[in-house]
Amino acid sequence: MNAFSSEIVRIDLADRSYDIVIDSAVLGNIDLYRDLPAATSAVIVTNSTVAPLYAARLRQALLVRFTEVQVVTLPDGEQYKTWQTLNLIFDALLGNACDRKTVLFALGGGVVGDMTGFAAASYMRGVPFVQVPTTLLAQVDSSVGGKTGINHPMGKNMIGAFYQPVKVVCDLDTLRTLPARELSAGLAEVIKYGPIADLEFLTWIETNMEALLARDLRALGYAVKRSCEIKAWVVGQDEREAGLRAILNFGHTFGHAIEAGLGYGEWLHGEAVAAGMVMAAKLSQRLGLVEGNFVERLVALIRRAGLPVVGPRLSESDNAGRYIELMRVDKKSEGGEIKFVLIDGPGTAVVRGAPDALVREVIDACCLRQ
Ligand code: NAD
Ligand code: GLY
Repeated sequence: MNAFSSEIVRIDLADRSYDIVIDSAVLGNIDLYRDLPAATSAVIVTNSTVAPLYAARLRQALLVRFTEVQVVTLPDGEQYKTWQTLNLIFDALLGNACDRKTVLFALGGGVVGDMTGFAAASYMRGVPFVQVPTTLLAQVDSSVGGKTGINHPMGKNMIGAFYQPVKVVCDLDTLRTLPARELSAGLAEVIKYGPIADLEFLTWIETNMEALLARDLRALGYAVKRSCEIKAWVVGQDEREAGLRAILNFGHTFGHAIEAGLGYGEWLHGEAVAAGMVMAAKLSQRLGLVEGNFVERLVALIRRAGLPVVGPRLSESDNAGRYIELMRVDKKSEGGEIKFVLIDGPGTAVVRGAPDALVREVIDACCLRQ
């Protein structure tokens, strides 16, 4: 692997500002944790897959800074992003008499990160937390920006809070143990930034796709850095998604319907977003917002990342109707009207509604046949 020089991306949010540290073999670096808020105890929240790989290394480093470091190990999987699992974190915090200064560490992918953040937002009305993302998806997106929460059977990420971490530590070396399917899922969120915000980055991804899939450290490091810079730029202007931040949900309106419709965990989040981006791009084209050749370019890149470009069927009788029903339960919906993030010319995005008949046509064209 090529070497990567350490980078720091700053999230600028007044008194809630923080650094994203991007480096290799950095998880166990005690210097990274010295400037955290003063506390005697820390709790690492992780899952049954990540714990045996990385929890001991992080715990060892944290013991230099904290007197007590507990590890809470959750079951692994999107299907466990629930109230019941969240309660396991509260059980451990209360069971260990954790106080309001206790610092939580989210060690894992987006599921662990979202749940730990939500636990940190609500335990004693708020304790500090650090994101230590170990999937590509979490390093380029979910660990940054303070969206935390859990799923509801009727809708993805529908229960949660905005709550910023005090630091994000991205150790690129952890991506070595990531299954290939998960790496591809992370690439969906990397690709997302191109069509909505940065055409140069889209071209860079096209040029470097093989290196990314081969886990070249320098390529991964740049992808994480540029993704975080774009996200920092968006979140810095619109932390609570009053407007602009919604563009980061490109592909997610369709994607969340896929995840909820199939049952959480059946398709990976990044896979659902990938097929969702194809649908959103084709809807943009049908609305005359973008040329077909740009859509085809995006579809080709998604395919090269090893991601699906066709959606699953969610109903045998009325597939498009089921998608639409599920998409109405979306945080962007207003008065029952579905809002889509669409490509508004290459490199820019717009959030708007679309006629149901057109949405149906696009879903029919973009889903597996019966
Ligand atoms: P995930 O957290 O389920 O992790 C994917 C899988 O990889 C899991 O099985 C996990 O145990 C395993 N894993 C993690 N790190 C590993 C490593 N280094 N080596 C080997 N295995 C490892 O999924 P994800 O793709 O990281 O995150 C998806 C979640 O993130 C979804 O719930 C989604 O809603 C959420 N999300 C949130 C935001 C946000 O802004 N908060 C943004 C995007 C996605
Ligand atoms: N992943 C979308 C957002 O953080 O807003």
